[in-house]
Amino acid sequence: MMQQHLSIHLKSQSPNTNLLRIMKQFISAHDVQDIPSLIQKALEYKTNPWKDENLGKRMRIGCLFLNPSMRTRLSTQVAAQQLGMDSLLFNVGQEGWALEFEDGAVMNGTTVEHVKDAAPIFGNYFDILAIRTFPSLKNKEDDYSEYIINQFIKYAGIPVLSLESATLHPLQSFTDLITITESMAANEIQHRKPKIVLSWAPHVKALPQCVANSFAQWVNKWGEADFVITHPAGYELDEQFSQGATITHDQDEALKDADFVYVKNWSAYHDYGKILCSDNEWMLTNEKLQLTNNAKVMHCLPVRRNIELSDEILDGPSSIITTEASNRVWAAQAVIAEIVEGLKLKV
Ligand code: CP
Repeated sequence: MMQQHLSIHLKSQSPNTNLLRIMKQFISAHDVQDIPSLIQKALEYKTNPWKDENLGKRMRIGCLFLNPSMRTRLSTQVAAQQLGMDSLLFNVGQEGWALEFEDGAVMNGTTVEHVKDAAPIFGNYFDILAIRTFPSLKNKEDDYSEYIINQFIKYAGIPVLSLESATLHPLQSFTDLITITESMAANEIQHRKPKIVLSWAPHVKALPQCVANSFAQWVNKWGEADFVITHPAGYELDEQFSQGATITHDQDEALKDADFVYVKNWSAYHDYGKILCSDNEWMLTNEKLQLTNNAKVMHCLPVRRNIELSDEILDGPSSIITTEASNRVWAAQAVIAEIVEGLKLKV
């Protein structure tokens, strides 16, 4: 097994950057020093998927799912395979022993194994540990402290890659910026910033804020967009993620001249985990799309048709959701490659 390494600065192999920090973990936009370079790296993999087919040879990524997934689990495994890396998938939430995460816990309840005991074993079986762990939506303090993924980071001793955590979904957001960059080139949006709108949509269930938080964090850090968030009153996101965006409750105003509309439901952050609005007027339609600059419509999927997004949008020419979901492979491949390259430096 390769050991986790100290953070150093080194000359990048990439022509796009001068300095690149080794990626020791990938749990938020802050783990990426240069977003445009990472986007270019992902697009190079899209052009030539097998160009680094031996990079991860004789290495393993363990993918732990405490919650369901389709795109994330498959794209991560495809990405690893294209780097010559083995991937092992463990549905720990369904098939593993019930894990305890609280340090000092007296385990006389339903939990059977402490993360303190399990994570170092994962650290010895794998070179990278990838984890999906959703929030409870009951205890804001616990969820926003990211204590579950942080316990894995604390005890695994190898790089940890988020496959969506309690508050963020970085592989999704990175994919979204890849997709926007690609679409801007194809639609000749040049020499100006695109207008990107994150538009809240109704849903029948209370969903995490992860995708919205993460999208806001990445677009703000990228800094290459005129960024607007629109939602009903009460759905304000945590400011640590949304600060930098224009925020409005007027969806029509937000949509004016938009180049991209990212549609997503989330439950309330302040009135934590609650559904405060189910007004289907918030669902995007072709009529509303008329307000935009022929905007492309995005959604991370899965989507509830005719609740979150109408059939006419999803099946129409504005939707780029399939490309977006397909791009998950290139995002995962670029990130895994970055981590593996860091491990190989053996500093
Ligand atoms: N967008 C996304 O993360 O999809 P899955 O939940 O299917 O992985």
